[in-house]
Amino acid sequence: MQFDDVIMGRRSIRGYKPDPVPKALIEEILALAMRAPSSMNTQPWNFYVLSGEPLDRIRAGNTERNLAGIPHSREFRIGQPFEGKHRDRQVGVAKQLFSAMGIAREDKEGRQDWVLRGFRQFDAPVCVIVTYDRNLADSDDTPFDCGAVTTALVNAAWSRGLGAVINSQGIMQSPVVREHAGIADDQVIMKAVALGWPDDSFPANAVVSERKSVDEATVFLGFDD
Ligand SMILES: Cc1cc2nc3c(=O)[nH]c(=O)nc-3n(C[C@H](O)[C@H](O)[C@H](O)COP(=O)(O)O)c2cc1C
Repeated sequence: MQFDDVIMGRRSIRGYKPDPVPKALIEEILALAMRAPSSMNTQPWNFYVLSGEPLDRIRAGNTERNLAGIPHSREFRIGQPFEGKHRDRQVGVAKQLFSAMGIAREDKEGRQDWVLRGFRQFDAPVCVIVTYDRNLADSDDTPFDCGAVTTALVNAAWSRGLGAVINSQGIMQSPVVREHAGIADDQVIMKAVALGWPDDSFPANAVVSERKSVDEATVFLGFDD
């Protein structure tokens, strides 16, 4: 696959075939992803790759705690609720996904099922928990570096025919993840990535999210043309 095909073709995958993903293929993808640049080459990232029973225990724990209304306990800051353009974009992609899935605005049960799907890691056969070294927690470069490696990971996966969705939902109940993934105390949980073979018949997988234009995002200085 050409680079442009990976970048332009990749989209978040939220419906998976049950087929397992070979460990060797995940190792290959991680090796590609870890070519990502990092601040001073510190490579603050680590990965806990879960499948089978440990992952099922996390799905069950996340579901149970969410249905019981246990407040979230993430290990990352989320800031204030989005406003303005950011809120518009958040609502925009949610509308695209709900429309693809045929979930109406007033369909509370359908929406709840959709949210719980996220807490179950979209029933993917694999979940990668991205963590970072706690002694680098005070640097803003650390989440930047984790973002770089995680983006490289989902693109490397796509280049091998695998789908993925980076997500916060899977790690909002961090004690569940800590317990069943055996996260070391010197690691902070940054993000989850659901991973597996895309189910092409799952409607949300066809959603192509929008992007602002290069013009809107960029200021060019010192160019003649
Ligand atoms: C930091 C981060 C957190 C995300 N959390 C979630 C999540 O909890 N649930 C979800 O369904 N998608 C999540 N996503 C996926 C985004 O919604 C998705 O990347 C965005 O809408 C753009 O769509 P695309 O990936 O299909 O291009 C997350 C993505 C990132 C980078």
